[in-house]
Amino acid sequence: MSERPARIHPTADVAATAEIGPGTSIWNQAQVREGARIGADCIIGKNVYVDVGVVVGDRGKVQNNSSLYHGVTLEYGVFIGPHVCFTNDRLPRAINPDGSPKTDADWEVSPILVRHGAALGANSTVLAGTTIGRWALVGAGSVVTHDVADFELVVGNPARRVGSACRCGHRLPDGADGMPFSGRCPRCGEAFPPEADA
Ligand SMILES: CC(C)(COP(=O)(O)OP(=O)(O)OC[C@H]1O[C@@H](n2cnc3c(N)ncnc32)[C@H](O)[C@@H]1OP(=O)(O)O)[C@@H](O)C(=O)NCCC(=O)NCCS
Repeated sequence: MSERPARIHPTADVAATAEIGPGTSIWNQAQVREGARIGADCIIGKNVYVDVGVVVGDRGKVQNNSSLYHGVTLEYGVFIGPHVCFTNDRLPRAINPDGSPKTDADWEVSPILVRHGAALGANSTVLAGTTIGRWALVGAGSVVTHDVADFELVVGNPARRVGSACRCGHRLPDGADGMPFSGRCPRCGEAFPPEADA
């Protein structure tokens, strides 16, 4: 990992209690809230919002205008495309049934976990309480409503499986029998499924 100091753009708003790892860049107007932990060698793009307590693993890349709300954990090397939205309340309301404003005590956070090497395409939305598996790939504009398995490629609203994704990102179609691809990736030549999944 890098030993370079983190670079924080003067217009970024980083809470004093946030942890920022070495070699990480935080760009214009990004906001990183209290207790957030951003690892080493990450890129946090322009206008990104990183909420209280969010964790971004080492070598993560979060592109412009994405919103990571409380409860989100990204493992090592996760890619978040531009304008991605992580939700944290499945049944949102501004007010209680009696019309009183909701407070932090009136709702429960449903966490989201994005595992090692996974990638989320531009403008995708992830519903609270879901896990996106290792090296999974979520197509642009998808709405993730259920867990996504390791190496799974999903697209659409709601996001549905359309095959597997190689670690290089190439789409590997399921067989005619509906079974996941088995063989060598035509793009990078790696055997799939990989022997070691990390
Ligand atoms: C999902 C994805 C990985 C598929 O890549 P691919 O296999 O090369 O896809 P193709 O362009 O060959 O398209 C195959 C089919 O999937 C459809 N498709 C592709 N991407 C789609 C998406 N995001 N949502 C819905 N359908 C999609 C295509 O329309 C096409 O359907 P058709 O055969 O009926 O015409 C890719 O399209 C994608 O969304 N990548 C993310 C890009 C992104 O957001 N990058 C962020 C940084 S800018």
